[in-house]
Amino acid sequence: MTDADIYPVPTNWAKDARVDAETYAQMYGRSLADPGSFWLEQAKRLDWIKRPEIAGDWSFDEQDFHISWFRDGVLNVAANCLDRHLEKNADTVALIWEPDDPAAEPRRFTYAQLHAEVCRFANVLKAEGVRKGDRVTVYMPMIPEATFALLACARIGAIHSVVFGGFSPDALAGRITDCDSSVLITADEGRRGGKRVALKANADAAADHAPALQKMIVVKATGGDVAMQPGRDIWYHEAAAAVSADCPPEPMNAEDPLFILYTSGSTGKPKGVLHTTGGYLLWCALTHEVAFDYRPGQVYWCAADIGWVTGHSYIVYGPLANGGTTLMYEGLPNWPDASRIWQVCDRHQVEILYTAPTALRALMREGDEFVQKTSRKSLKLLGSVGEPINPEAWRWYHDVVGEGRCPIVDTWWQTETGGHMITPLPGAHALKPGSAIRPFFGIDPQIVDADGIVQTGNPAEGNLCIAKSWPGQMRTMWGDHERFFQTYFATYPGYYFSGDGCRRDTDGDYWITGRVDDVINVSGHRMGTAEVESALVLHPLVAEAAVVGFPHDIKGQGIYAYVTLNVGVTADDDLRRTLAQWVRKEIGPIATPDAIQFAPGLPKTRSGKIMRRILRKIAEGDTTNLGDISTLADPGVVEDLVANRVG
Ligand code: PRX
Repeated sequence: MTDADIYPVPTNWAKDARVDAETYAQMYGRSLADPGSFWLEQAKRLDWIKRPEIAGDWSFDEQDFHISWFRDGVLNVAANCLDRHLEKNADTVALIWEPDDPAAEPRRFTYAQLHAEVCRFANVLKAEGVRKGDRVTVYMPMIPEATFALLACARIGAIHSVVFGGFSPDALAGRITDCDSSVLITADEGRRGGKRVALKANADAAADHAPALQKMIVVKATGGDVAMQPGRDIWYHEAAAAVSADCPPEPMNAEDPLFILYTSGSTGKPKGVLHTTGGYLLWCALTHEVAFDYRPGQVYWCAADIGWVTGHSYIVYGPLANGGTTLMYEGLPNWPDASRIWQVCDRHQVEILYTAPTALRALMREGDEFVQKTSRKSLKLLGSVGEPINPEAWRWYHDVVGEGRCPIVDTWWQTETGGHMITPLPGAHALKPGSAIRPFFGIDPQIVDADGIVQTGNPAEGNLCIAKSWPGQMRTMWGDHERFFQTYFATYPGYYFSGDGCRRDTDGDYWITGRVDDVINVSGHRMGTAEVESALVLHPLVAEAAVVGFPHDIKGQGIYAYVTLNVGVTADDDLRRTLAQWVRKEIGPIATPDAIQFAPGLPKTRSGKIMRRILRKIAEGDTTNLGDISTLADPGVVEDLVANRVG
């Protein structure tokens, strides 16, 4: 790397930011040396019904495995995100909603209005029998009611489980059943890029396979025609008209569950990541304020979907806990054209924008004119999340979008971590395109080699582990605490293993290199290869399937599927299309394979294990260097795979 690739902290940021280099060094040092007092001090930023006296109490050792934060504290998340701002900021805009259709009117909710909406929604849930600890599934488009629904659950102590609106009825049914959720909140339809998404129809199809489900609360979003099942389905607007806007927040222990969010792992079944109340909220609030240098009054836009953890932590909980103004956008970044995202910035005078590299790459391809015809003068800071950002996209974001004046914070974190883990702080760290730079307060990253040896010194490369617990850490996997331990703590005893590869350069800055397990990252969405394989083998003509990721210009990684058909089945393009469509229907559009190669045989060891390393190489087009194939049961299959590579 040359000096040209280092972007020093701009003078005004070094001077005015909340955290400069010296403050970072001092706070980071103290967060590791004296975590108890550091975190009890930080916890004061929340409004507690009973303030905690215990910070972290945890052990990653198998014999004594436990994780808790502030376990003697009592609070309510919705009260922290709403009620406590009412005294001084009742009229501050809490939520701006930008509709899909640029000609439609945006909606704005002050803290007072959002408070009333959430209380009403909470009373509707109560009227439907929802109580503290009950699971409520949320399958919603990006409309304000999605935010009301989450905060309403938090207010009454119900555990929300948001399922991304792009998931199929089967995926939704599986998630409803796994957490035994009796109530589903959905909408008639969603709007995205001028098209309608049939959420209620999908929910109806899911309900047929989700016996736990008893009630569906349906928000009227488009007014589209939907079937309502008497006794089960309720229109939200009718139920809301019958309840009051007064709903006292439920006192919750800091360790009471706040939400479950299903995410993909290396097995076929998605994992229900569970986050709790106090530590999670503190983590969202602190990281949001420090990494984005957020100041109340600034319009902040996280362009994620509420169905992913980024939406939970950085559209809803972090910004609202900080009394901020959060923008929620219903549509797509490139609709009606590639200027939209920048037009929204101008329309609402967005100062902080947080989006994913995949969106940047797609927009970059359309040409700079789409950016340059907008002002973007309001922008002060740009964030990136979800996947490694390639230096080319980083520079485009920095130079073209931010005109060189906005720091880029490339935040590395995961559903499991609750919020940012490794990220530059805009006033403290020089930036390098593609590096997530330094650990956040309390985070002790360690790079471990395949044998579990911690790599001290720089540079270093290996698997990214975290040595100490942090308040935002997930607490368990819903219904399977043993799997929680096995997935994250068994590989490298005493450490949380992230599943990511990582490099630390000679300056001590961190570079995330991508997943090292059987998880791929498609357009910033996490997808288990085993999930796609399970969907493929459900098709009656498929005997076996193996799925790997391959580099994709826009998506970061694409999905490459090797499919062995049943004997006698003709392999042709029609069947390719049918299978792609099948996966789309089974899981959702984000799982659609980009390439399907029909393979009479898969490369297996003598014990029958598929050698994915070889499949990855072939998918990448790197067929000259397949490594040692002598341990294969039938080395001949490789020749066929190479000869019939797709792409
Ligand atoms: O591989 C890492 C990648 O996304 C994974 C986490 O995905 P998910 O749980 O869906 O959460 C996405 C939103 C945080 C990680 O294991 N990832 C996330 N952020 C970055 C990243 N890879 C590189 N750089 C990032 N900034």
